[in-house]
Amino acid sequence: MSTSTTFGPCSTCYSSLLRLKLKFKFPSISQRSSLSTVDFGTKTLRIFSSSVNYHGSGKNDPCDLNRRRGLLFTATLPLLLPLGEFVEEFVAKAEESGTSEYLRTKEAVTKVVSKGKAAGVLRLAFHDAGTFEMDENSGGMNGSIVFELERPENAGLKKPFKVLVKAKSEVDATQSVSWADMIAVGGAVAVSVCGGPTIPVPLGRLDSMEPDPEGKLPQESLDASGLKQCFQRKGFSTQELVALSGAHTLGSKGFGNPTVFDNSYYKILLEKPWQSSAGMPSMIGLPSDRALVQDDECLRWINMYADNQNLFFEDFKNAYIKLVNSGARWKSL
Ligand code: HEM
Repeated sequence: MSTSTTFGPCSTCYSSLLRLKLKFKFPSISQRSSLSTVDFGTKTLRIFSSSVNYHGSGKNDPCDLNRRRGLLFTATLPLLLPLGEFVEEFVAKAEESGTSEYLRTKEAVTKVVSKGKAAGVLRLAFHDAGTFEMDENSGGMNGSIVFELERPENAGLKKPFKVLVKAKSEVDATQSVSWADMIAVGGAVAVSVCGGPTIPVPLGRLDSMEPDPEGKLPQESLDASGLKQCFQRKGFSTQELVALSGAHTLGSKGFGNPTVFDNSYYKILLEKPWQSSAGMPSMIGLPSDRALVQDDECLRWINMYADNQNLFFEDFKNAYIKLVNSGARWKSL
């Protein structure tokens, strides 16, 4: 939801200035550094300050131009306005209105995502966002999964998608919401409904009108170095790969209770039950899960998360927020 605050300049110091209209796009506090949209007069500026450059950097790239304008704007604004006096107020208002939109979406999603449906919905979020490729600036959290449900790697995701259809119509009745936002919130609700961390998800993503390029999701046959490279191309470190893989604690791969989000994934990985001679233990984990324990760098994180569930929750939360912002295009409010 947009929040627009109009500020009048101080009559003595800024009498020559026209009234200045600022509009802030709402992201959560933790995301404020990565993107904000400011309307200055009639022009919309996008200010990016993320350490990860998700956009092209060519000379004529409009995002680049906007970034430069944004920097110029940021640098000169304090000279023009008594920022301290009102910025806090309008950021608070923006967050307030964004929060109500978020709460409405979260409430609708919470009604439909039960513990039994959580694993599928979380996987749906990964399969939408996980197509992101930094170098190609393609894929990402853009709702394109709606065009990709027939792909073999997305087998089984029609059900969780349908679960969210009802929630989306409910939200759309008040104010339209993108599939990208619905799925991002869906994954976060799936985690918390199963006892995992509460993950705040900023809204405002735009949907893609076409499918993402194929073959960008990690294959389960990858070894640790293949998984690391794959995640690196999406902007994720080894630590984030290991934290995100902890999502496999949900579902039927044998990492503890299938509907409880906890750190049993790491504890069971360390036990390597698949090495047991026969029977059910040999079914536990995907090849990609098993590969993580073979790698020293991954193993260090597996040990830490097995020892400290709070650390896993905190790192998962941060990596999930990054995942659902990957490659996202944001609406200008
Ligand atoms: C590291 C690379 C990954 C690979 C190769 C991979 C692959 C897979 C595969 C093949 C399945 C289906 C298992 C089955 O037959 O039941 C699965 C399930 C699942 N994946 Fe992943 N995945 C990866 C990472 C992730 C991430 C990052 C997330 C979320 C943040 C995630 C969430 C899930 C969930 C929740 C399930 C269980 C779904 C259910 O039981 O309905 N996966 N994954």
